[in-house]
Amino acid sequence: MSGAKICDYEGSQYRREFWEGQGREYEDLAERIAMRALLPPAGDTLVEIGAGYGRLAGLYAGYRRVVLLDYARSQLEEAQRYLPNPDRFTFVVADVYRLPFVDNLFDTLTMVRVMHHLADVPRALTELQRVIRPGGVVVLEHASKRHLKAVARWLLRRQPWNPFDPQPVEFAELNFDFHPRWVRQQLTGAGFQLEATRTVSHFRVSWLKRLVPPRWLAALDGLAQPTGRWWQLSPSVFVRARAQKPPAGLADGFFCCPLCRSSALSPLDARLVCDGCGRQWRTDGGIYDFKTPLSSP
Ligand SMILES: C[S@@+](CC[C@H](N)C(=O)[O-])C[C@H]1O[C@@H](n2cnc3c(N)ncnc32)[C@H](O)[C@@H]1O
Ligand SMILES: [Zn+2]
Repeated sequence: MSGAKICDYEGSQYRREFWEGQGREYEDLAERIAMRALLPPAGDTLVEIGAGYGRLAGLYAGYRRVVLLDYARSQLEEAQRYLPNPDRFTFVVADVYRLPFVDNLFDTLTMVRVMHHLADVPRALTELQRVIRPGGVVVLEHASKRHLKAVARWLLRRQPWNPFDPQPVEFAELNFDFHPRWVRQQLTGAGFQLEATRTVSHFRVSWLKRLVPPRWLAALDGLAQPTGRWWQLSPSVFVRARAQKPPAGLADGFFCCPLCRSSALSPLDARLVCDGCGRQWRTDGGIYDFKTPLSSP
């Protein structure tokens, strides 16, 4: 639908196979510390792009309306089962390259562990910039190619790619590592002003994780994270940036058709019908599904 290839999590057991009981409590806790430090604690509208099963949704309690968006409907269905208060959220299936929202809508936008699946980062950032309001905040996480283990592996000739080369490396299909400077350049190029950087998961080393309880290791990570302001040598980097764009009035409407951009969408049974192009979008099961239209004009 977007042109760029998409890493499809439809039907995947991401929660069970990657997080639960998989020895990543330290990473989860460290990421929450970074998010709490970077995220404006309260606001009106927030969207999380690539929210998966809603692992981080508990951090958004201070927002009036919270949208959890993912390309995989099954992830959002999992979120509906997993979250203690699913009614509080608006669930949206869509592609980051074609967001179904009107311009200048969100106060805050988050995207964690998603950028490493994006083949066209500049295009995704342009779309994020479109839906955030002037002065709105984005909190983004990206996998870094310039971390200490990668540097050591490269020096020992156990890794073919150079961690200092600014270009992204696709180490497996639709899995990218990025140079922190390259990401900063893309953000600036898309009209964001960088405000803060935190390096995360400094201690992602298996023997250390076996030795030190996750809470202690995460607390240590929290102490190390602010050094991201000066240098970035960890496998994960979180940034907060602010949208620089001309002042605009309040957003007009909420959803728009991702294909023709019309915001005139009329409810009909369990569908939204686009007055602009005639396409119909599913809204059953408590999920707005803007991935594939039910009908073409
Ligand atoms: C590694 S998971 C991260 C989930 C969640 N952010 C977290 O940290 O637990 C990546 C998520 O990004 C979603 N995703 C990948 N490409 C996407 C795209 N083009 N548009 C929207 N979501 C996408 C996947 O469906 C998946 O749920
Ligand atoms: Zn349309």
